[in-house]
Amino acid sequence: MAMVCLSDFEAYAKKYLPKIAWDFFAAGADDCSTRDENILAYKRIRFRPRMLRDVSMMDIRTKLLGTEISFPVGIAPTGFHQLAWPDGEKSTARVAKAMNTCYIVSTYSTCTLEEISAAAPGGLRWFQLYIHRNRAVSQQLVQRAEALGFQGLVLTADLPYTGKRRDDVRNGFRLPPHMKLKNLEGAFEVCKMSPLDPSVTWNDIYWLRSLTHLPIIIKGILTKEDAELAVRHGVQGIIVSNHGGRQLDGGPATIDALVEVAEAVQGRVEVYLDGGIRKGSDVLKALALGAKCVFIGRPALWGLAYKGEEGLQDVLRILQDEFRLSMALAGCASVSEIGRHLVQFSKL
Ligand code: FNR
Repeated sequence: MAMVCLSDFEAYAKKYLPKIAWDFFAAGADDCSTRDENILAYKRIRFRPRMLRDVSMMDIRTKLLGTEISFPVGIAPTGFHQLAWPDGEKSTARVAKAMNTCYIVSTYSTCTLEEISAAAPGGLRWFQLYIHRNRAVSQQLVQRAEALGFQGLVLTADLPYTGKRRDDVRNGFRLPPHMKLKNLEGAFEVCKMSPLDPSVTWNDIYWLRSLTHLPIIIKGILTKEDAELAVRHGVQGIIVSNHGGRQLDGGPATIDALVEVAEAVQGRVEVYLDGGIRKGSDVLKALALGAKCVFIGRPALWGLAYKGEEGLQDVLRILQDEFRLSMALAGCASVSEIGRHLVQFSKL
């Protein structure tokens, strides 16, 4: 089977993954309208391409908080990579390093932070945190990540409780017994309720600040009001995200929310986006509307499910090639030339 675009990897994963794993990866909350809207919204945005602009030499590199990456696509935090490929997050880390991009490692990894670091020493990695009721657990995780050379701390803000994903409920989804939440072993023992702390507020950013020197990036922002609060609380970056439509169903597509967030932030901190990125032209649209970089969630899992490291590398290479081509066809030879002038919202 020729793998030409990311949908080919999706089709493969759907066909060959165990149903319970496929359903978990694919799930959105409730009737999945936000999950699907994340993708549909790109179709309402049209380019205003410019011609005759010498695109013989293309520069698609960018910087994330000062660190250069090969192109503006990183890997979003997703849990349980061993459901897709036996080496799990170790494979993901190797590919991110080989492709010279950023990998945000989930709290819910099936490999330890130490194993992930050892698999790809020196790779650019950020650690994604869910704050636990037992704050000592979170504190230790943050400090472990910093000691291991992770370069950013991503606080996920949109999961005080887990959204209602119907297929997971129907399937009674749980990790197979041979897989573990390796970074949290022991931490759940006495906890009958969800171990995540739903009482987290903006003040907890100050608590995190007191624990670490790492830059703090907040993930899950969708409004100008929260973007303003994030800047005021001193974060270094914002990821416009709706958790791939897995939390509150009925919220906006992230590409639509990006517009108001980027306008509110006015360049004071870096703004990124995840959700629904499936083509190089989606990346270009997100950058035109103010994202410094985007992250992919499910497509990375499909790549792993296809052929492990090779499959994930294929996914990233395809996106990279498509992004370079879209840029050139739109008349941009470097990412610094991408701007709001490049897109318009279709009246359809
Ligand atoms: C996620 N996401 C997520 N986010 C997070 O902060 N911590 C996590 O552990 C997870 N786990 C997770 C598992 C799975 C299977 C999915 C699909 C998603 C959300 C993720 O970081 C990201 O926001 C979305 O996946 C982006 O949407 P796309 O690229 O999947 O459309």
